[in-house]
Amino acid sequence: MAVLETDYLGRAREQTLALVDAVSDDDLERVHSPLMSPLVWDLGHIATFEDLWLAHRRGGLPLVYPELLDVYDAFETPRARRGELPYLRRAEAEQYLATVRERVRGLGLGADEPFVDLVLRHERQHAETMLQTLALAALEGWRPPASGCVGTADEPASGLELVDVPAASYPLGAGGASFAYDNERPQHEIEVERFAIGRVPLTNADWLAFVTEGGYARRAWWSEEGWAWRSAERIERPLRWLEDGLERHLDGVHPLNLQAPVVHVSYYEAEAYANARGVRLPSELEWELAASWDAERAAKLTWPWGEAPPQPRHANLIESAVFAPLQAGALSDGASPYGVLGMIGDVWEWTTSDFRGYPGFVSHPYREYSEVFFGSDYRVLRGGSFATSADVVTPTFRNWDFPHRRQIFAGVRVAADTQ
Ligand code: AVJ
Ligand code: FE
Repeated sequence: MAVLETDYLGRAREQTLALVDAVSDDDLERVHSPLMSPLVWDLGHIATFEDLWLAHRRGGLPLVYPELLDVYDAFETPRARRGELPYLRRAEAEQYLATVRERVRGLGLGADEPFVDLVLRHERQHAETMLQTLALAALEGWRPPASGCVGTADEPASGLELVDVPAASYPLGAGGASFAYDNERPQHEIEVERFAIGRVPLTNADWLAFVTEGGYARRAWWSEEGWAWRSAERIERPLRWLEDGLERHLDGVHPLNLQAPVVHVSYYEAEAYANARGVRLPSELEWELAASWDAERAAKLTWPWGEAPPQPRHANLIESAVFAPLQAGALSDGASPYGVLGMIGDVWEWTTSDFRGYPGFVSHPYREYSEVFFGSDYRVLRGGSFATSADVVTPTFRNWDFPHRRQIFAGVRVAADTQ
């Protein structure tokens, strides 16, 4: 098997470095939001993870910076306090990344080594985290490496158009031998009642109607927790909506794109919207069924559209270099057998499911990836965003965050009971 030249890790690294290429040293090294690490911390953390899992554990080499293991341990120091750590500054962090990669190349590991997959996905996930930081920072003059809107819908779509999904029994989670995170296994058969799900995610037009009707002020539409959060934080609109019908994207301020999926809303807002319209959010079981089950063939698909890896005509992921959601209903080649669109890419989708282990869960290869987050604090999100890599997301991939968080590129797909 070809060594790392082929070279998923190399491509990921190019993209990581391209994200911060035009960021000044000061902006790279400082804290932009208590929710996020300094960008340069992510760089050092990426290097440490690779050094630990590939050079050290797999290759038996001593660590480059054993004394920095704690500094780059995500569990030692919460993000809000990472700015106080003695992390490496830009030049040293970039050198650290290069040094580790050189050592790893020297090991001649095959691309099919399990920890190569782990390290690749780790870097890719941190690239999305860094894009969240860059979105919050809204740096003057910084632009994403490439952008431009491709893919439009034939006609305006609404996230309230529902598609029927008949009751089914299907295998939830990842089977087979190819890489999946521990939280996606073991695959197990589950039953889902008949339900309906949005053909596309909710659009900005859908959301604007909710705002105009005073949705953020109607107590009856909010859960108790959601209302407490909304009131304390004085939430009135999605995080990146400005007054006067404008929206901040990674590449600057634009008129609100009414046909694009709404993004940067919390679970609590999603829930309030659904209550207002007499619908609900899907569970992750329903979501995965709608995204990947082919009822006619009684087969689970690798991707909503079949077995082919994602191309720009299937899904808007970071590889497409479009750094914003496309119009809802675009990329019709990405439809699942049920005819739902945009399940992969564009926006993460909130589900009602708490983040828990599947029956028979076994932590692998370390507890701090998933297990320490299990419980009722986090909600599962599915499907990836325009900032997610196809190296990371699949229809079985599970992301999670607190229900009040809005810095992630998250939107909403609604569901409903059908009688
Ligand atoms: C799966 C996105 C919630 O960022 O905390 C990165 C991914 N895990 N390094 C996170 C992760 C370890 C994780 N999420
Ligand atoms: Fe990490």
